[in-house]
Amino acid sequence: MYLGLDLGTSGIKALLIDDDQGIVTSAHADLHVARPHAGWSEQNPQDWCAAAETALLALKASHPREMATVKGIGLSGQMHGAVLLDQHAQVLRPAILWNDSRSYIQAARLDADPQFRAISGNIVFPGFTVPKLVWVKENEPEIFAKIHKVLLPKDYLRLWLTGEYLSDFSDSSGTAWLNTAQRRWSAELLSATDMDISQMPDLVEGTEQAGRLRPEIASQFGLTLGTIIAGGGGDNAASACGVGTVAPNRAFISLGTSGVVFVANQQYSPNAESAVHSFCHALPDMWHQMGVILSATDSLNWFAKICGQTPPELISELGETLQAPGGVSFLPYLSGERTPHNDAALRGSFIGLGHGSDRPALTQAVLEGVAFAVRDNLEALRAVGAEITQATAIGGGSRSLYWLSAIATISGIPLEVPQDGDYGAAFGAARLGMIAAHNLDPVAVCTPPKIARVVEPVQQLTAAYETAYLRYKAAHQRIVNFNPTM
Ligand code: XUL
Repeated sequence: MYLGLDLGTSGIKALLIDDDQGIVTSAHADLHVARPHAGWSEQNPQDWCAAAETALLALKASHPREMATVKGIGLSGQMHGAVLLDQHAQVLRPAILWNDSRSYIQAARLDADPQFRAISGNIVFPGFTVPKLVWVKENEPEIFAKIHKVLLPKDYLRLWLTGEYLSDFSDSSGTAWLNTAQRRWSAELLSATDMDISQMPDLVEGTEQAGRLRPEIASQFGLTLGTIIAGGGGDNAASACGVGTVAPNRAFISLGTSGVVFVANQQYSPNAESAVHSFCHALPDMWHQMGVILSATDSLNWFAKICGQTPPELISELGETLQAPGGVSFLPYLSGERTPHNDAALRGSFIGLGHGSDRPALTQAVLEGVAFAVRDNLEALRAVGAEITQATAIGGGSRSLYWLSAIATISGIPLEVPQDGDYGAAFGAARLGMIAAHNLDPVAVCTPPKIARVVEPVQQLTAAYETAYLRYKAAHQRIVNFNPTM
């Protein structure tokens, strides 16, 4: 047995797979995001451990024999979050998450220093870890002075599980302190932000061993003492391992809290000015490019909450068949946007409302707005040479065929939907645990799943979707200078 633990933004998932990679069972525990000020997004790291405890105890209760035979564990998690620890490994303040935009001034300042793009290969986005640390230095200097270690979210779980400070290259690529070509921390970038390499965890490949279970943890969850933990990966690289996006030009589109278009590369291909991310993959000698939308299912969840409905209830009002776009445009920039705009101050909008704009019309606009943002990301990736002719659809939002059909139609590419199962980050993390436990060939383990169906573009609606996409782009141009704080 192998165990994958994925620390998402809205919840944590623990998933068990057997020696043939069959999914045995999984357990989930919810997490909530605190937004104490506009643009802020925080979670308490102790809540992650409590949620992991809930999920692992559920697995122990339902599958005690299987838990006792786990040979490898993999970790995956929301990227970029800053967990600040003092010398006693105590959390100094709530973790500042990937979709927190408070540090946009610090990010712009760092990004203007050419060595950041040159060494990390990426724009210094406000969501990345470095500008958050600079924000803390400037706004909470007493906390900055006490920082002994900075960890990414999943690596805080590792500390709890193993007592060790370690991370992997894929997740660390999202800090802006990594030399992404050479797969090592950059002493230059650390010192440019008054940080020292001793404050960072040691680094390994996602497929390598990175810690062993502590005795207390092993006995609490009915696991074996000393079980191996793999380096694991940021949630997107781990998802790529789950859906077999481990060969050049293979791609996936993920509709989770964030939306991601991910393509695997055999070589490092930085192109920072495009706002495309260039990160290390979780497998050795591989990198990946990715476009990131900050509010994908988050946009639908936001709208569902206002309507007092669940997202599936809202989507069911649209029927099964893709409709021509309505007259309303929705811009999904609830937390600003990364690719392609790199604009933390952008905010969402409905444009074109009329008396006939009822709830289904607005739901349709939300789904279309996210689909258009996916198209923006595909264009940005294609502009830097990515050849994406097909993609696997994953993430909670991919359960909606309506949504996938809209994305396929505006993107002009077929979307492959895996057979029933759960091929996301937790599954990828479990695979990484398996590889690390037995030193297996990663590419041989990370095969693509069986495909249940292929969602093709709806040709009769392509022209109407293109027109609506142009309207969406025009709407973005109109609001680009709108400052919501004025
Ligand atoms: C990737 C990113 C998000 C988070 C969400 O750069 O910010 O996909 O990893 O979990």
